[in-house]
Amino acid sequence: DWTMKAFREEAIERIRAQVGTGRVICGLSGGVDSAVAAVLIHEAIGDQLTCVFVDHGLLRSAEAEQVVTLFRDHYNIPLVHVQAQDLFIGALEGVSDPEVKRKTIGRLFIDVFDEEAKKIGGADFLAQGTLYPDVIESVSFTGGPSVTIKSHHNVGGLPERMKMKLVEPLRELFKDEVRVLGRELGLPEAFVGRHPFPGPGLAIRVPGEITREKLDILRKADAIYLEEIRNAGLYDVIWQAFAVLLPVKTVGVMGDGRTYDHVCALRAVTSVDGMTADFYPFDMGFLGRVATRIINEVKGINRVTYDITSKPPGTIEWE
Ligand code: XMP
Repeated sequence: DWTMKAFREEAIERIRAQVGTGRVICGLSGGVDSAVAAVLIHEAIGDQLTCVFVDHGLLRSAEAEQVVTLFRDHYNIPLVHVQAQDLFIGALEGVSDPEVKRKTIGRLFIDVFDEEAKKIGGADFLAQGTLYPDVIESVSFTGGPSVTIKSHHNVGGLPERMKMKLVEPLRELFKDEVRVLGRELGLPEAFVGRHPFPGPGLAIRVPGEITREKLDILRKADAIYLEEIRNAGLYDVIWQAFAVLLPVKTVGVMGDGRTYDHVCALRAVTSVDGMTADFYPFDMGFLGRVATRIINEVKGINRVTYDITSKPPGTIEWE
């Protein structure tokens, strides 16, 4: 792609001009954006870059291994894999407000990056895969009063005490452009085509207070749902699909017994840039199959619903 080739060259020049001989830490989330940012920055400044992948215990099943494999084996880019599950999950204990959850997670990410920066003898810059829609949605709705819809974990400035400056080479791009750039940089198609995944991870897919048990239940349901979507050949048609574990229990019957378990909501949307979205019109047979599998295979869920809200008025994530 001609335009992306030009963007790539320019972005590399800009990164070099901004960073000079400084050291950069890049936070990887497991998503496409931060991976593309990291590969681009690595191309610009080589071993002045250290990548940090924070496992906050809010990832989907097998996600950590996929990222580590991509960077260490495919690209040979040095990667620090931080095990911070206890730190994040501990800090989120008793927290049920969506914005407090998001801000807590954002703050802890910065703490971990600061810590890792110290270990490598200090870093001057923190790199992130922030995209244009992340920037606008965290600031305001265009034309309207300035209202924060959601504080994206990686936007909105850094705490005063943090000395690192930001490097955000994708700040002007939309998701589809980042994918083109990722292909241009040689990222494997399976990675480039991945659905977006938010930095705060599964914490914002368990409305209300999270617990390790709820996260485990959600991981299992989500994996089944995505497996069925892939098997039906629908993964690439859908912008984003995921399960949400509701903090509501309902009564059911299984065999001769009464059950009293969580409700799971399924979400799937089509979109171009995540700013607006339509719910995906699955056929009922498909939804029925997924619901049956989840209820039979996942202990802790006895009811499945499908979210038919578009954006607006809904948002894609539930929190
Ligand atoms: P919403 O829920 O605002 O989501 O309609 C729009 C898109 O952004 C993703 N999202 C995030 N991505 N950090 C991220 O990196 C975040 O804090 C965050 N919050 C939402 C969401 O998954 C969807 O693709």
